[in-house]
Amino acid sequence: MKIIVTARNGTRDFECEPGEKILHAGLRSGVELPYECATGTCGTCKARLTSGRAESEWPEAPGRKYFKAEGDLLTCQSVAPSASAAPSSPERDAGDAWPGDGASLATAARSRSAR
Ligand code: FES
Repeated sequence: MKIIVTARNGTRDFECEPGEKILHAGLRSGVELPYECATGTCGTCKARLTSGRAESEWPEAPGRKYFKAEGDLLTCQSVAPSASAAPSSPERDAGDAWPGDGASLATAARSRSAR
C-alpha cells in the first residue's frame, strides 16, 4: 500500500507491505522519518493520519501520551492494514480505491530527505 508523508519541508511517498511498520517501510525506502526509540515509548515518530487507514499494533504504547488529536499514530507501532481487512460494499464501484489502499500522514517534524 502506498504511504504519503507530508513533512514541513515536503512530501514523500513509499510502499508499505501489509503488516509492515510504517516507520520501517519509510526507512527502507530511504525516507528519513523522525524516530528515536522505535519501540513506542518516546513519541518522536508521531504523525497524523489525514486519509486512508493504518492499524496500531500496540494501542497502549506509552508514546501515545503525546497525541493531540484523533488520527494521531506512532509510525513505529502502526502497520498497513491487509487488503483483506477492507470491508466490502455493494455501493462501491470496482474501480474505486478503498481508503485502505493507501494512507496519507502528516508529521510536524522535518523529514531530512523530503524535498
Ligand atoms: S520512535 Fe519512539 S515512539 Fe516511535
